[in-house]
Amino acid sequence: MKKSETTLKESEATLPKPLVERFKSQDEMWEYLIASKNIIWMGQNTNHLEINKEIKNAALKVIENSEFQKYPPPGGFSELREAIAQDLKLPDHDVLITSGGTEGLHIVVSSIIRVGDHAIISDPGYMIIGKFVERWGGHVSYVPIYSPELNYRLKPEAVKGEIKENTKLLILVDPLNPLGYAHTEDEIKAFADIAKEHDLIIIHDVTYRDFSDKHALAAKYAPERTFTIYSFSKSYALAGLRIGAIVSLKEMVNNAKNFIINDLGTNFLSQRVALAALKTKPVWLPLIKKETRENQKLIKDAVEKVPKAFLPIYPAQASMFVIDLLDTGIRPIDIMSHLLEKYNIFTREGSYTSKRFGHRYLRVSFSIPTKHVEKFAEAFPKAMNELNNNLFFSV
Ligand SMILES: Cc1ncc(COP(=O)(O)O)c(C=O)c1O
Repeated sequence: MKKSETTLKESEATLPKPLVERFKSQDEMWEYLIASKNIIWMGQNTNHLEINKEIKNAALKVIENSEFQKYPPPGGFSELREAIAQDLKLPDHDVLITSGGTEGLHIVVSSIIRVGDHAIISDPGYMIIGKFVERWGGHVSYVPIYSPELNYRLKPEAVKGEIKENTKLLILVDPLNPLGYAHTEDEIKAFADIAKEHDLIIIHDVTYRDFSDKHALAAKYAPERTFTIYSFSKSYALAGLRIGAIVSLKEMVNNAKNFIINDLGTNFLSQRVALAALKTKPVWLPLIKKETRENQKLIKDAVEKVPKAFLPIYPAQASMFVIDLLDTGIRPIDIMSHLLEKYNIFTREGSYTSKRFGHRYLRVSFSIPTKHVEKFAEAFPKAMNELNNNLFFSV
């Protein structure tokens, strides 16, 4: 055996299991992360920027008045529902308040998909939606978009190529988690036309809409076949309160309501807080957009210091993007683990958002204070270098 082969084998034998693979379960990992002090939170696209005092005050008021002892209206408070429709500029639409966008996605998928039906979604993408389809016995085409030839985006032509006789659903996550692009208005129009021509329903998940410069709603072009999924978790910084909504025409929302589990309504306190956040949005949103854009630039500069690493999408129209690491030879799971273990920085390796392409990228989110992003910017090139030179094993 050649000497280099021996060395490689030995170094592999001493390779510690990445930290994140040492957790027995997802729950154990979250408990660890939440309990750890001073973690820099770049792994969940959640918003850690201060938004507005009035939002916390709304929560305190519910607690002081013990309002949580009552059930809320089952479909949500009308003021909140109207404010969401207004925010989307869809005044003629109905709104059902849900426990996060996730519950909204599940209810809508449940109302559409039956055994043997087919749905289309991008890969990479937000995979849980595809899983919801599969739970109902549906088949999913995960359309590959991760290549420079496709500009790393889901194109209307690619969707057309996937349509079958039993296709019922087109799922658009826009802006896209994890890549961070937003569809153009022309693309949205084209998707709406495809839906009309082939009798499809569109789920338009707009969780990250507030981070984009310009955003078009499929509901504007195909209202009679679009469910818009709304979330308070990201721009509104209310992830832990678990609140979101389904927005569509009244008849479609009524049909979706047949699949509600939580028919006693969504968390009282969360609804009050969400309304305060919506009302104060003109004050805090411009600041958050500015800060997240500046943060993206800092990350870009740091990525440019690492040979062969690159950003497929920049600037992102969301609170996250991915760093392609394939040609660096460093596995995303190893850098995620190393950043967490040595630098207290939580990022996300790619397999969570793509089985096919996840080995190529690390996802980082930047709706966090700039001083935290500066720490990442300093740590990332160092950490990559340490892994490259196996310095990892001496720390
Ligand atoms: C595209 C997308 N949709 C929905 C969700 C879930 O949102 P919620 O916290 O409102 O359930 C996420 C969370 O990361 C997401 O990325």
